[in-house]
Amino acid sequence: MDSIDLRSDTVTWPTPEMREAMAKAEVGDDVWGDDPTVKRLEALAAGRMGKEAALFVASGTMGNLIALLTHCQRGEEVIMGKVAHTFKYEVGGASALGGVSFYTVPVQPDGTLDLHDIEHAIRDPSDIHYPITRLVCLENTQGSLGGIPITAGYTQSVRELCDRYGLSLHLDGARIWNAATALGCDVSELTAPVDTVSFCLSKGLCAPVGSLLCGPQAFIERARRVRKMLGGGMRQVGILAAAGIIAIEKMTGRLAEDHANARRLAEGLSRIDGIRLDLDQVQTNMVFFSLAESVPFDARALYETLERNYNIKLDVTGARDFRAVTHYWITEERVDTVVRAIRETLEAAGA
Ligand SMILES: Cc1ncc(COP(=O)(O)O)c(C=O)c1O
Repeated sequence: MDSIDLRSDTVTWPTPEMREAMAKAEVGDDVWGDDPTVKRLEALAAGRMGKEAALFVASGTMGNLIALLTHCQRGEEVIMGKVAHTFKYEVGGASALGGVSFYTVPVQPDGTLDLHDIEHAIRDPSDIHYPITRLVCLENTQGSLGGIPITAGYTQSVRELCDRYGLSLHLDGARIWNAATALGCDVSELTAPVDTVSFCLSKGLCAPVGSLLCGPQAFIERARRVRKMLGGGMRQVGILAAAGIIAIEKMTGRLAEDHANARRLAEGLSRIDGIRLDLDQVQTNMVFFSLAESVPFDARALYETLERNYNIKLDVTGARDFRAVTHYWITEERVDTVVRAIRETLEAAGA
């Protein structure tokens, strides 16, 4: 990577080992069920998530959309956080394409949804004015609040609530391996309480494309039909699955390095006058920070200076706010370069 690109972990390039595996992948027509590499990837993913089956899909957005369309019928409702990725950034796909309505509740500072809020959002099925509540959706790690990992214990308490009301539980586990790394547990402990989970290969795990939707066999068979309906049936896609196998087998074990680099970045930034950040929020690979009022320019201006003078890219999330995400291509040395560049720029401005 030429630039130091901290906008997201989605900017990661595939590793040389992935490119080699992709070039040599054994393939077949996956719509006909003929691709051996896809089958290997799906079996591997299902096993790691502790589910019966898995479906390889084009993206995290598609994984969540297929999950919602498979769980819910038209006129049914899903409960999720107000800042859930699936609500905010997935184009309202489940309502546009599936007639599913969203009931959103606040996300607490620790990334969880308050159980009372969820319970309050569940509709009375005997009242004909309401849509039917069908599904609760959680996100782990919780991205919009800083990549906060959500514990198995909390997820289990939502499971118990769902069971009391006969609801299903889906997990947007785009970065579930980051959560397992941060919590020091096996990923299957975090997914045990949910019916279905989708996770991404194409973020911190470096694969170029793809996500897996995992769940019970019968659910995944129905999901396979929905994927086809959305145009997501892919042919010799073992070429992509080959990178995904390496992502799961090799890349999940190194995420602690990204977390250590995020902490190094956060600690370095917190020592700069003019930078505001909450170190407690930095638990995985994301660092959220802001410019203090004393800084005589806004986030966009700092972004442009860093890009022009240092070839550093950050994600501007507000007038004075940034997100920086560490990943495979961000070394300790690069973290130090970023801290130095921001310090120099702020000092030059007399902040
Ligand atoms: C929490 C979360 N869920 C889902 C997605 C969607 O993944 P994709 O970009 O592959 O559609 C993202 C993407 O950044 C995400 O952060």
